[in-house]
Amino acid sequence: MLILGIETTCDETAAAVVERSSAGEGRILSNIVLSQVSEHAAYGGVVPEIAARAHVEALDHVISRAMAEAGCSFDRIDGVAAAAGPGLIGGVIVGLTTAKAIALVNEKPLIAVNHLEAHALTARLTDSVAFPYCLFLASGGHTQIVAVRGVGNYVRLGTTVDDAIGEAFDKTAKLLGLGYPGGPQVEVEARSGNPARFALPRPMLGKPNADFSLSGLKTALRLEAEKIAPISDQDVRDLCASFQQAVVDVVADRLRAGLKLFRESCGEPTALVAAGGVAANEAIRKVLHRLSFEGGTQLVVPPAALCTDNGAMIAWAGAERLALGLIDTLETPPHARWPLSDLVARPTPRRKAG
Ligand code: KG4
Ligand code: ZN
Repeated sequence: MLILGIETTCDETAAAVVERSSAGEGRILSNIVLSQVSEHAAYGGVVPEIAARAHVEALDHVISRAMAEAGCSFDRIDGVAAAAGPGLIGGVIVGLTTAKAIALVNEKPLIAVNHLEAHALTARLTDSVAFPYCLFLASGGHTQIVAVRGVGNYVRLGTTVDDAIGEAFDKTAKLLGLGYPGGPQVEVEARSGNPARFALPRPMLGKPNADFSLSGLKTALRLEAEKIAPISDQDVRDLCASFQQAVVDVVADRLRAGLKLFRESCGEPTALVAAGGVAANEAIRKVLHRLSFEGGTQLVVPPAALCTDNGAMIAWAGAERLALGLIDTLETPPHARWPLSDLVARPTPRRKAG
């Protein structure tokens, strides 16, 4: 099965062709990602209107490249998948409408993919992970711990009550005068900083639920920076290191709680899976390794290029749905908000604990 996947929910214009074998194994034939970072950098964040216009300009070209690299024509594909949300609505409309046009003209099925489901299923494309597994999704817009029980079958075990982790990294970078996107820059500064210099809070630590809260941490960091203003380069490094250490401690604690909730409701997970741009952070990766070792659980972290937004994950989620006969009509609407819990449930058998 060959699927074209289109991703336009945020600031990446992306398209890919992915193959799924009858045994359920995935292979990426092409994966083209055009980042809009330079167009948004001057504003210190993504400007929705600029993003939507940039998707309109780039998408046809990105799709042509993905098809050419895969050595594939529209008549050879088995379906067209597009991220139909959640995301910035202008971009979602561009990608979904384009997918509908290709599906209509070439008489192919359309699969309207939930962007979060695509992140959730990527580990099955890269590592053929079996259900049920525990997903830690941390990006600029989302921070969730999810029990992935089957295609369309998700139980959200924890979420952030305010900022996403990537957003907290980005806001910290902005406050300290580092560039956009801020996560990678904060990580670089943190490497030569002292993580113990500033006593920042660890919100939600020890709570039995698996929720996150990041906004208090960000405020505490701002107050520390104001106290010692004007800040030197070394102050910036120490603030970044202290911030990152607080996030790492919070992630460890919240994931421990999340894995406990997972075992109580779904039995033993086949793996702990990370997804989203924040999973590119080395310190976060390290703590994920520690947690998986502690719990005797396999850790799966897809390559960074598949953790961040891309078309291959949309194509793969489309392939998984099409294989189950889950397709959509041309009337399918785009969604700005679209929680995983709204998807159609596909139950899989419960595994035994232990
Ligand atoms: O998944 P993603 O590419 O896009 C969405 O938000 O959907 O994630 C981007 C987010 C940004 O907030 C970025 O700052 C963060 O992931 N990020 C990182 C790192 N690389 C990307 N945060 C911390 N450390 C990193 N190395
Ligand atoms: Zn994403």
